[in-house]
Amino acid sequence: MAINDSSVNQLASEQKKLEANYNALRLENLALDLTRGKPSSAQLNLSNKLDGILEDFFLLQDGTDVRNYGGIRGIPEARDMGALFLDVDPSNVMVGGNSSLTLMYQYVEHMLPIWRSESSTIKFICVTPGYDRHFTICEQFSIEMISVKLTNDGPDMERIFSLVENDSSIKGIWCVPKYSNPTGHTYSKKTVQSFAQLGKVAGDNFRIIWDNAYAVHHLGDTPEKLENIKWACEKEGTADNVVMFASTSKVTFAGGGISFFSSSHKNLDDFEKYLSAQLIGFDKVNQLRHVRFLKNELAITEHMKKHKEIIQPKFALVEAKLNTSFAGKNIATWTKPNGGYFVSLDTTHKVADKVVNLASAVGVKLTPAGATYPYGRDPNNSNIRIAPTYPPMSELEKAMDVLVLCIELATVNHLVNI
Ligand SMILES: Cc1ncc(COP(=O)(O)O)c(C=O)c1O
Repeated sequence: MAINDSSVNQLASEQKKLEANYNALRLENLALDLTRGKPSSAQLNLSNKLDGILEDFFLLQDGTDVRNYGGIRGIPEARDMGALFLDVDPSNVMVGGNSSLTLMYQYVEHMLPIWRSESSTIKFICVTPGYDRHFTICEQFSIEMISVKLTNDGPDMERIFSLVENDSSIKGIWCVPKYSNPTGHTYSKKTVQSFAQLGKVAGDNFRIIWDNAYAVHHLGDTPEKLENIKWACEKEGTADNVVMFASTSKVTFAGGGISFFSSSHKNLDDFEKYLSAQLIGFDKVNQLRHVRFLKNELAITEHMKKHKEIIQPKFALVEAKLNTSFAGKNIATWTKPNGGYFVSLDTTHKVADKVVNLASAVGVKLTPAGATYPYGRDPNNSNIRIAPTYPPMSELEKAMDVLVLCIELATVNHLVNI
């Protein structure tokens, strides 16, 4: 494709060809979806043994009957498992219900009175592109959002320090430190060490929300290593400034798993006090099911390898389609993640909204343009999040063909109109 060529005639002829291909798609009545990062049925099937695994045996080693009320921090066996996911001591872990996002929402809500006592306006730093539902929590609580760019090493730490040094109404930052949603980046050791310094500048009640949703979700042969922020913060005397989250949503059943929270003992006590006004305890039966099913570190690693076998070919297909169509051309750049659930694509020109609309009109749903930015506003109108895990390979292949065509067409339309 000759998009680089400035010749108007050539562009117009390219536009005609692409339009013809696009119009042919209309006749196919497609109904494909590349939006949310959901596990496929084949992935969910890996955990079917969860059902019935307890075989009427509901007692813990210490004699606790998990069918009954109590134990807001979770059963000890599940806290041990949370400690594996978050690389912390079990005494620093609380095990929650079916959603880490709910725990994050509750955590933010529980900090609001403290933050409001310090500042009439509350602001959060949002690493972008990022996870849209983090941003929705901020909107829900009227927390102003400030975007900070993600680099290959993690967020731009210089800008973060400069922001918090000059604005005491900034009370937190959202981070997906490993296989980030949507780019797949893992924060470098230097970035994590820099985060450990942040509390000294940002104040005692500043919170780094460390959403380690993809802690065990490797796609490559060599898992990426994330430096342990808890230890780094402990060394710097800032352990209260970090709260960590994870869940088994994309390990076992999405929305039917268990979630983990970890922080200092002081923060755990405070959060438990807040939670105890709204619940007596989380679902311990499901916690025990997960412990019996996922067993230990080795078994979790083996289980995640099976996920990888199912989804790695899908990521390879996305990479192959993008590479074949765009390598060496000034149309788009994209990430090649070693883990997680997404590929993040940036169009070279400001056409992401046009691409999404074109795809939608021929039956391919993409995440709305801008969704990966606070307030749904991508300043470059370029980012598109691709979620390859859910559709079967044949549908993914077709959806990627449509996506590529829509990117080409939107780009040519843009260049013709310059
Ligand atoms: C970064 C991130 N955090 C949290 C979640 C949701 O996790 P849960 O199902 O535990 O609420 C997702 C799901 O897509 C995610 O991408």
